[in-house]
Amino acid sequence: EKGGHEYFMLKEIEEQPDALANTLRGHFVDGRIVLDEQRVSDQDLRDVDKVFVVACGSAYHSGLVAKYAIEHWTRLPVEVELASEFRYRDPVLDRATLVVAVSQSGETADTLEAIRHARAQKARVLAVCNTNGAQIPRESDAVLYTHAGPEIGVASTKAFLAQIAANYLVGLAIAQARGTKYADEVAREFAELEAMPAAVKQVLSTVDTVRALGRELADSKAVLFLGRHVGYPVALEGALKLKELAYMHAEGFAAGELKHGPIALIEDGLPVVVVMPSPKGRAVLHAKLVSNISEIQARGARTIVIAEEGDETVRPFADELIEVPAVPTLLQPLVSTVPLQVLAAEIARARGYDVDKPRNLAKSVTVE
Ligand code: BG6
Repeated sequence: EKGGHEYFMLKEIEEQPDALANTLRGHFVDGRIVLDEQRVSDQDLRDVDKVFVVACGSAYHSGLVAKYAIEHWTRLPVEVELASEFRYRDPVLDRATLVVAVSQSGETADTLEAIRHARAQKARVLAVCNTNGAQIPRESDAVLYTHAGPEIGVASTKAFLAQIAANYLVGLAIAQARGTKYADEVAREFAELEAMPAAVKQVLSTVDTVRALGRELADSKAVLFLGRHVGYPVALEGALKLKELAYMHAEGFAAGELKHGPIALIEDGLPVVVVMPSPKGRAVLHAKLVSNISEIQARGARTIVIAEEGDETVRPFADELIEVPAVPTLLQPLVSTVPLQVLAAEIARARGYDVDKPRNLAKSVTVE
């Protein structure tokens, strides 16, 4: 049942191209993005004037990634919030607010309570969920299912990638309803998403060097992750995976914050993973990150750089270079997260831990 793999998680990492393809399938029909269930009118969707994404753990990180795309495509303000925080402050909600609840299990109590709170204030709720008929989609006004298939590993991998793709479909559906994207632009964005399973497959074919690196890093005390723009939530997810699986101190930072604090943590030999943007797509951000890497390298950090293949400018500053295929900027998290999953799993295995069942964690947390 583990398909020849030692752990479900390793199998699930390999299944990511299929998880993405299956999540996209059937959602672009006759030139339009379609959801799985829609119990609100198209007019209601058109009238949305603000979006909240609420979720926990990796699902929350998928929301942080999606914020960049949804704001860009819909021109609506998007706030991404931990469900447990959202619920207990006093968020400003009304019938023109769309709350997107992202949950693999569809049973997470924090997220469920958040949508109940939102619905009581008349907000519309759209669930992105991997489990058919779970409680969160049942209590939502619209549903888009991720089709990652059952995820056994407690730390999310394939469901996370599928959530990013599904959140993007939600963004395109709102953009289409509001007319902030023309039909041909929506079609082009969808086609770019459809190219991602092949790109992820390419990443998977090159991860042996990441595994070897993972074994080398097994005795590290801590690992830092830096990213910017969509690379920032990828850095947070990379750090979360390492905490969950390897019980290692790991923190993700926005690279622009480096000089406002985290640079004080840099010491000789500290591994720092840097998620680079494309040199073509975001030249300004790329240059700023190259400067960040040179600063931390000068202070003795061991730099582990995830960069677009052929990115020569970054090479002199990368003690270890992990190359990923060139893809559109907003889609980079779908390729750059994969080596971080593999890295965390390999460090955990080298430390002798069961990567499917990390200590103290449960796959679905049904208490607040
Ligand atoms: C945590 C899981 O308890 O819940 C994470 O260990 C997951 O992997 C998080 O991301 C949220 O779960 P769900 O089912 O709401 O996506």
